[in-house]
Amino acid sequence: MAITLPPLPYEAHALAPYISADTLGFHHGKHHQTYVTNLNNLIQGSDLADVPLEEIIKLSANKPEKTAIFNNAAQVWNHTFYWHSMKKGGGGAPSGAIAAKIDEAFGSYEAFVEAFKSAGATQFGSGWAWLVLENGVLKVTKTSNADTPMVHAQKALLTVDVWEHAYYLDYQNRRVDYLDIFLKHLVNWEFAEANLAL
Ligand code: FE2
Repeated sequence: MAITLPPLPYEAHALAPYISADTLGFHHGKHHQTYVTNLNNLIQGSDLADVPLEEIIKLSANKPEKTAIFNNAAQVWNHTFYWHSMKKGGGGAPSGAIAAKIDEAFGSYEAFVEAFKSAGATQFGSGWAWLVLENGVLKVTKTSNADTPMVHAQKALLTVDVWEHAYYLDYQNRRVDYLDIFLKHLVNWEFAEANLAL
């Protein structure tokens, strides 16, 4: 049972002008696809060959001999989660249960925005910024490289990819501008709300 590349949940041009079709095309078609291909090559014929993706991630985490498997598997999962963390016409403050949880954890939506942007901006090198649920409370975190909340007893609600390949074609070195645009025009709060309810 090979791992397959899920299609983008929208057309490649759907997030323009905030994220270009070029960026999404390379990011999904080349980077995400490469993680899928590498993972399949690594697990072929092994005891992980027929294991679901989330189990592969959990079984390979913190095992030095399985680092390559973990990195590729977590990157496959993280990217799929990232595509769904955005939508055409997204952005702005949420409403409903997620809004109440944000107020409870951060004091205000504005405080959450600052925390999320700061996490993404201060992630040194490649990685991810996240909104997660930990012990029933929302929290903003950042992870390096392929690291992912599910191996830290956290449920991911939203993520933004801060690897340079996510924004360099559109924003060059201006990661903070990309994070600002993500929150103002792209973030998919319905997805976060659905994850909260899981
Ligand atoms: Fe990426």
